[in-house]
Amino acid sequence: MVPSYAQVFTALCGLATTAVAVQPVIVDGKDFVNSVTKDRFQIIGVDYQPGGSSGFTGKSDPLSDATTCMRDAALMQRLGVNTIRIYNMSPDLNHDECASIFNAAGIYLILDVNSPLENGSLDRTAPWTSYNPIYMKQVFGMIEAFKNYPNTLALFSGNEVINQDSVEQVPAYVRAVQRDMHDYIAKHVNRSIPVGYSAADVRNILVDTSNYMSCNIKNSTSSRSDFFGLNSYSWCGKSSIKTAGYDVLADDFKNASLPVFFSEYGCNKVTPRVFTEVQAIYSEEMTQAISGGLVYEWTQEANNYGLVQINDNNTVTLRVDYDNLQKQFSQLDLKKVQSANSSQTSVDPVECSADLISTNGFPNTFDIPTRLDSIQKMIDNGVGSTNVGKLVPVKNTKITETVYDSNGKEITGIELNVLSNDQSNLPGSNTSGSSSGSSSSGSPTSSASGSAKTNAAGKPSASGMFSLAGTLSAMLLALVA
Ligand SMILES: *[C@@H]1O[C@H](CO)[C@@H](O)[C@H](O)[C@H]1NC(C)=O
Ligand SMILES: *[C@@H]1O[C@H](CO)[C@@H](O)[C@H](O)[C@H]1NC(C)=O
Ligand SMILES: *[C@@H]1O[C@H](CO)[C@@H](O)[C@H](O)[C@H]1NC(C)=O
Ligand SMILES: *[C@@H]1O[C@H](CO)[C@@H](O)[C@H](O)[C@H]1NC(C)=O
Ligand SMILES: *[C@@H]1O[C@H](CO)[C@@H](O)[C@H](O)[C@H]1NC(C)=O
Ligand SMILES: *[C@@H]1O[C@H](CO)[C@@H](O)[C@H](O)[C@H]1NC(C)=O
Ligand SMILES: *[C@@H]1O[C@H](CO)[C@@H](O)[C@H](O)[C@H]1NC(C)=O
Repeated sequence: MVPSYAQVFTALCGLATTAVAVQPVIVDGKDFVNSVTKDRFQIIGVDYQPGGSSGFTGKSDPLSDATTCMRDAALMQRLGVNTIRIYNMSPDLNHDECASIFNAAGIYLILDVNSPLENGSLDRTAPWTSYNPIYMKQVFGMIEAFKNYPNTLALFSGNEVINQDSVEQVPAYVRAVQRDMHDYIAKHVNRSIPVGYSAADVRNILVDTSNYMSCNIKNSTSSRSDFFGLNSYSWCGKSSIKTAGYDVLADDFKNASLPVFFSEYGCNKVTPRVFTEVQAIYSEEMTQAISGGLVYEWTQEANNYGLVQINDNNTVTLRVDYDNLQKQFSQLDLKKVQSANSSQTSVDPVECSADLISTNGFPNTFDIPTRLDSIQKMIDNGVGSTNVGKLVPVKNTKITETVYDSNGKEITGIELNVLSNDQSNLPGSNTSGSSSGSSSSGSPTSSASGSAKTNAAGKPSASGMFSLAGTLSAMLLALVA
């Protein structure tokens, strides 16, 4: 029987609009786990803020331009990451295309809810002035903008607000912001989105900070962190678990009641970076305490931490750091990285008490600031955001910008592989693209030439099917119109 146009049309449209999606990640004890398979989820990530904080004006953000997102998602997929962290976002911009592109690539989002603009974050020298309705409207707006993307993994309430310069009241204000975020999510979101804090590695207050954020307060249970991020730069060059003090961190956090991960890592005192810490972070010694981490950072900026260089002529050059990191990721034992370890998922949070705090000057009382009526109203009624994100079909998987490998040779054929439903990205697969003339380049270790082999296997890629379906339904749409 020949199907009617209407039947074909419906079938194809169904295909094209079925949003493939990653499974939401949840917190289970001290692990992140896939909410459906219950596999342990360890973060294999990069920090993503092209242009840096100083480049953020609120008129664009890292997820507002689909062309850039397509390029970066394809290059990150190839690198092997499953998560990105973004520091500064605008709750008012449309992120649907970018969030959908990263979702299709199997890459989750961890988002800071703060911005460097006025009233965009807590003031660490006077938090009571900045914990106000203007700031909280932005925070709740971020929740609205990202709550419906299944790849929204987690939200950071603050980054390094607690440090040597901060006043003693700051930790309580961070918990107040977390309380309001949790209460807003409970009222206006149909799943739990983990909320936590990202700490600077200030040795003498690190354990106090994590104890403060992770203990239970009887009359303020929702102010507790769901996870703890640590910005760590102690492993430089070819270091070791002992030299870098990772053994101390593993000890500090092995009894933690929540997932702990490196929200930034990648010391650049020795360049190019060799990223030997990757094997340590995902080793048995560390995975008792640490759930992976995010390499600082994707683009080369003035502070010299980039994996890729965005050139003035709008091309991209992969740096040697990218190659080195890709090599390290590809050596991971992925079965181990994903296997849940039930013996470590059972640590219950303790009640907050003064004896959890050991540093003089760090607060050891746990009175969380009361909530203003105006903030209560927003939680009760919603912030009335008109910018609630949703997944959209990813129509195109080709990247349009020119990409050079670390030897300056153009890499052709890079494209986004749309993963099938429920998959997240893993190192070592989806490594499209090959360097032009790489066989004569005399660079047998070039990651780009290695990845050409994967491509040569001739597996039909999911993305091919999706773009075909997209094209057909577009043609049918034209016919019907
Ligand atoms: C920031 O907040 C203060 C205090 O609520 C307010 O007076 C000021 O107008 C705000 N600035 C902006 C740019 O919203
Ligand atoms: C929550 O809402 C989103 C958007 O409407 C929907 O896609 C998702 O399936 C819902 N999740 C649950 C657990 O109901
Ligand atoms: C919570 O309990 C503490 C200590 O008993 C008290 O000081 C504080 O006012 C209480 N906070 C609220 C919001 O009830
Ligand atoms: C971790 O917990 C175990 C078992 O409760 C205990 O023996 C050990 O002292 C704890 N370690 C630290 C560093 O708190
Ligand atoms: C599982 O946890 C136990 C106890 O913490 C530890 O000894 C063991 O090495 C862990 N296994 C893996 C694969 O991480
Ligand atoms: C773009 O700029 C890069 C870096 O300066 C250079 O290597 C490359 O040749 C340029 N490409 C074009 C097409 O001009
Ligand atoms: C992409 O990665 C997923 C997850 O690792 C894998 O199952 C799939 O086969 C890969 N696709 C291609 C085209 O390599």
